[in-house]
Amino acid sequence: MRIRDRSTEATKVMGIRHPIVQGPFGGGLSTTRLAATVSNLGGLGSYGAHALTPSRIGEVARELRGLTSAPFAINLWVADHDPGGDALSPAEFARVGRIFAPYFRELGLDVPPPPERFHPSFEAQIEALLEAAPPVFSFVFGVPSATVLRECRRRNIVTVGAATSIAEAVALDEAGVDAIVASGCEAGGHRPSFLARAEDTLVSTAVLVQLVVPRVRAPVIAAGGIASAPGIEAVLGLGASAAQIGTAFLACEESGTTDEHRALLFDDAARDTVLTRTFTGRLARGIRNRFTREMEARLAELPPFPAQSWFAGQLKAAAVAARRTDLVSLWSGQIAPNLRHHTATELMSSFLEDSK
Ligand SMILES: Cc1cc2nc3c(=O)[nH]c(=O)nc-3n(C[C@H](O)[C@H](O)[C@H](O)COP(=O)(O)O)c2cc1C
Repeated sequence: MRIRDRSTEATKVMGIRHPIVQGPFGGGLSTTRLAATVSNLGGLGSYGAHALTPSRIGEVARELRGLTSAPFAINLWVADHDPGGDALSPAEFARVGRIFAPYFRELGLDVPPPPERFHPSFEAQIEALLEAAPPVFSFVFGVPSATVLRECRRRNIVTVGAATSIAEAVALDEAGVDAIVASGCEAGGHRPSFLARAEDTLVSTAVLVQLVVPRVRAPVIAAGGIASAPGIEAVLGLGASAAQIGTAFLACEESGTTDEHRALLFDDAARDTVLTRTFTGRLARGIRNRFTREMEARLAELPPFPAQSWFAGQLKAAAVAARRTDLVSLWSGQIAPNLRHHTATELMSSFLEDSK
């Protein structure tokens, strides 16, 4: 059956027309325009909000409601820090600052002073999210508390968690989430592992879907390495109930990334992606560049998430302004060399029209 005509458990649970989810992008790369375009075309548009203040989460939900009457997701990171990563002593801050200083100097800048906090707190964000009550709350890096999940149910917010292993999928299922993203290691962006080290759960999407589907009650959404109608059909054939697509949507002009990053996703440079902790302290896949090469050699000296993410984020803001791609994260999944579409509408049509 053609993808456009496929009604699955996931489409029913999330109230969407097609089994296609535009994956959320954290770190300022989501836009309400991209998410609303996908939702209006019958998929589930998502907005990655983990770096947003609580008040901005409410604004994003309002903006999305103004742009679409179809369901959309807002996404948060449940674990907002790794041990030791939420606060650095002045001496530690200065030590890490010295690692970053030569890069800032190249851009004619000094290392900025320490912020009040390196990352917003999940507790404050989830309050704002519950208040905003988006149709779907998707999350990574953990399982929200029973109280939060109960509140979601009470407010008719569909919950979607992400797993990188059988154990994580079962934990989400036992907590009663409505759908589970099976996130394969070919995916772009972060590896959202929460029960084991990300490096120890590097399972491909095809294998993970087959491992998870028979073991959980919730419908499974396959994520990682999908960018075409045959890719979606393949994961549905393995028992997934929908496909979540990230890199192919990130490459579209509606996404929040830079023109330089977008161009590289369509370039031979995207044949060489790497899973690295150098940008945020958490393992994530992006195009290899000078920063990943030089910082991999100093990994042991870098602080945990989110302190590392803050330093790299400050550098990124300055480097992007200078149109530099050697010092910034260039998130990409392994499927990038096959990308062809430059707008979300074209990409959605390819999924819906190219399917047999
Ligand atoms: C730039 C980027 C940022 C991402 N940020 C998030 C995020 O904040 N939350 C999340 O659940 N998934 C995030 N993801 C994962 C995607 O939503 C999606 O699951 C993944 O990209 C699918 O694999 P693919 O890139 O091979 O299509 C991100 C992916 C990318 C490429």
